[in-house]
Amino acid sequence: MASKTKLEGQNTAPPAHLAVRGIHKRFGGVHALRDVDFEVARGEVMALVGDNGAGKSTLMKVLAGAYGADEGAFFMDDKPVTLSSPNDASGLGIQIVYQDLALCENLDVAANLSLGDEPVKAGWRFLPRLLRPLDALEMEVKAREAIDKLQVRTLQSVRAKVEGLSGGQRQAIAIARAVGTESTVVMLDEPTAALGVAQTRQVLEVVKRLRETNHAVVYISHNMRDIFEVADRITVLRHGGNVATYTTADTTPDAIVVAMTRGLDDEGAGNAA
Ligand SMILES: Nc1ncnc2c1ncn2[C@@H]1O[C@H](COP(=O)(O)OP(=O)(O)O)[C@@H](O)[C@H]1O
Ligand SMILES: [Mg+2]
Repeated sequence: MASKTKLEGQNTAPPAHLAVRGIHKRFGGVHALRDVDFEVARGEVMALVGDNGAGKSTLMKVLAGAYGADEGAFFMDDKPVTLSSPNDASGLGIQIVYQDLALCENLDVAANLSLGDEPVKAGWRFLPRLLRPLDALEMEVKAREAIDKLQVRTLQSVRAKVEGLSGGQRQAIAIARAVGTESTVVMLDEPTAALGVAQTRQVLEVVKRLRETNHAVVYISHNMRDIFEVADRITVLRHGGNVATYTTADTTPDAIVVAMTRGLDDEGAGNAA
């Protein structure tokens, strides 16, 4: 029943940019993902929801190449691809923004945005990389561009240190860093979990901006209000398996909560699209 519903939904779905089929992932005796199908299109926000332990973070890490899948197939624009490391994933334009963000507190925004790819002043390239003077101006210009692209309005200066920023601003910086590379898929794991109302709003605006710039966005959240504000579709996982994929406009928060907690019961948990 559940899998039939899932297939029906795919008839009306936009063409997948990233798709996985039949993913299994085991951690010792824990079968964390069981035959999971998942897809996201460009210009779409796909929410990934489920109770604690449902397998959301594991699926996202598999999609980012951080965990190898035990079984399953990956496709980019319908072409089979292999994905066995985070490098493979970023080479394919897949970026993940982890829950802990992994920003350097003591560095400023510009430095955080160019970590690992710092611009060096012209004329010093004869020196070993670590000894070359950084081009602070270019770093700043690039950071400003990345921030402006996402229309993060509250950030005064890219020279501000991360330790002085709000949670929402940090989240925006981490997203800008993921997008700064040539990414087409951006995955966010509970980006608003630790944020208040105003900062959540700011992050949701950035997520919408990612959609406008034609990214395929995967958005993990527990918050039905956020999901119903930003997601085009919703994939529900339960106990490591698919329940169904819903079109947000055709379902309700109550139906999603039922699908998360009970799966599809006899009546069907409402409008699986
Ligand atoms: N690194 C790991 N080692 C062992 N078990 C893990 C690991 N990561 C996740 N799990 C298990 O896999 C299941 C799914 O976890 P997770 O993907 O974190 O769920 P969610 O993000 O939906 O809360 C859970 O039972 C969890 O305990
Ligand atoms: Mg998780």
